Amino acid sequence: MKTLHEHAALSAQLADYRQQGQRIALVPTMGHLHAGHISLISAARQHADIVVATIFVNPMQFGPNEDFDSYPRTLEADQQKLAEAGCDLLFAPTIDTLYPQGLSHHTVIHVPEVSAGLCGQDRPGHFDGVATVVTKLFNLVQPDVACFGQKDYQQVAVIRKMVADLCMSIDIITVPTVRAADGLALSSRNSYLSPQQRDLAPRLYATLQALGQKLPHHHLSALETEGYQALKAEGFKPDYVEIRALDLSPATAATKAWVILAAARLGETRLIDNLIIAEE
Ligand code: PAJ
Repeated sequence: MKTLHEHAALSAQLADYRQQGQRIALVPTMGHLHAGHISLISAARQHADIVVATIFVNPMQFGPNEDFDSYPRTLEADQQKLAEAGCDLLFAPTIDTLYPQGLSHHTVIHVPEVSAGLCGQDRPGHFDGVATVVTKLFNLVQPDVACFGQKDYQQVAVIRKMVADLCMSIDIITVPTVRAADGLALSSRNSYLSPQQRDLAPRLYATLQALGQKLPHHHLSALETEGYQALKAEGFKPDYVEIRALDLSPATAATKAWVILAAARLGETRLIDNLIIAEE
């Protein structure tokens, strides 16, 4: 697997692939890769001839008090995992390569509605940063298909709307969440958890499952409150527990499939998870 850091080298390599008529899949990441990321590489492999991964810790999507500086950067280990997973090309640009003039006067891609509420409420500007960097990566790589994880449910919804609104001809694939044996969704941020917090963390998903078993026979707002209180009682600081229709619009009496979404902190570490429930 090749690693490239510059636009020019990337463009030359991509031109080569295209000349050979190869279909290209993109898997954008921020690195510190785990089995969740690797499942995106495997999914990408099924949809294309060439798999391009990117590793870039995107400053534009981090708030001023968030973990941009401390976000784990593990390029060598990541390269090895990607190579073993059969990734063809890694693009790992520097901040100067993607933001040569800095962030403050940069064009912003804002995706309305789906980026409001949920994580958008607790992380103002976060989805603008995601949409902007993903647009850059889409323009640089011009993939036929791009893979994203269901774990970041709102993120995929934002990207799907952006792709539709801006007429980007890229197929977006959503890949199911990969979990540890105890149910905790794998996340680069899990490495911040103390052993005690790690023991508690699977209760987030367990709480969503407990709520899911009560759907559709209970009032949604009562279930949301129940989930919030349950997480608090377990020792989490919940940001939200919400039940929405699959497109993230408010669920109505006609809704037949729901997504239960939650974000909660253990100490300083913010965990998110979600669960889809469909009426049988
Ligand atoms: P990152 O958190 O590194 O995640 C990269 C991709 O891996 C995302 O699509 C995410 O949903 C997926 N992913 C993470 N954990 C997963 C799990 N347990 N199972 C399945 N997929 C999982 O998300 C980002 O980076 C950034 O916002 C990015 C899209 C790269 C833009 O900067």
